[in-house]
Amino acid sequence: MGLLSFSEPIRAAVIGASGGIGRAFAENLAADPAVGAVLATARQGAVPEGERIAPLRLDLEEEASIAAAAATAKDRLGGLDLVIVATGILRGPGIDPEKSFRQLDSAVMARVLAVNTIGPALVARHFLPLLPRNGRAILAALSARVGSIGDNALGGWHSYRASKAALNMLIRNFAIEEARRNADAIIVGLHPGTVATDLSAPFRRSVADGRLFTPDEAARRLLATLDGLAPADSGGVFAYDGQRLPD
Ligand SMILES: NC(=O)c1ccc[n+]([C@@H]2O[C@H](COP(=O)([O-])OP(=O)(O)OC[C@H]3O[C@@H](n4cnc5c(N)ncnc54)[C@H](OP(=O)(O)O)[C@@H]3O)[C@@H](O)[C@H]2O)c1
Repeated sequence: MGLLSFSEPIRAAVIGASGGIGRAFAENLAADPAVGAVLATARQGAVPEGERIAPLRLDLEEEASIAAAAATAKDRLGGLDLVIVATGILRGPGIDPEKSFRQLDSAVMARVLAVNTIGPALVARHFLPLLPRNGRAILAALSARVGSIGDNALGGWHSYRASKAALNMLIRNFAIEEARRNADAIIVGLHPGTVATDLSAPFRRSVADGRLFTPDEAARRLLATLDGLAPADSGGVFAYDGQRLPD
């Protein structure tokens, strides 16, 4: 029994299928009887292999590669029913989440926004036209609870928080726009909880026992969350337990 209750086998794409959570999405989708084909994109890392998985290269900082991947999805599958954007950065060479405004660096901010905000927006630009005009269709982007302005009591992580807050705004905008094209479309952000991936590795000390998910648990919970959403939910950000996050 799969996690998705689409009535016919669907065409799915996972952007960032080389990442911890993205890989688990691709594996779970490829094993789901409701899914006929999975396009799995990566910038440089390896994506899972499987009969129903087609690997593609896509670098969020190179728009031509996003356009080319969308064109391939159209040629090979005629369109897509489910697009999951599972990319993102929090840290990396020369990038650390800022604790104070004194640590702000324009090049770091630009890079974090390029990957976490502009990249997913460009994916929407090229992939939303591939969703059907009628019936259930979903584009979901991995956001984070820390992108909620209403939920922010701690501060810090300026670039990452701002990049996710801006992503959440774009998701709301795209949901409004897409509803005019297909009233059943669902465009949402997702919060996976704290998940044991490279991204979270240095920041897990304060996570309570039982609250650190494996990538597989996170992907399964998020697929179940997506399955429970209705068009009226479009534009929101939802956590792994199905709860809507404050704006
Ligand atoms: N892990 C957590 O606890 C947690 C909590 C809240 C939210 N999230 C969010 O969940 C999402 C996935 O995170 P994760 O934990 O799975 O991280 P991860 O294991 O570090 O994976 C990150 C993914 O992003 C891709 N990526 C980075 N820069 C890219 C670019 N320029 N173009 C294309 N792909 C790029 C990486 O591709 P390559 O491998 O090809 O470089 C990789 O597939 C992120 O949006 C993150 O903010 C995670």
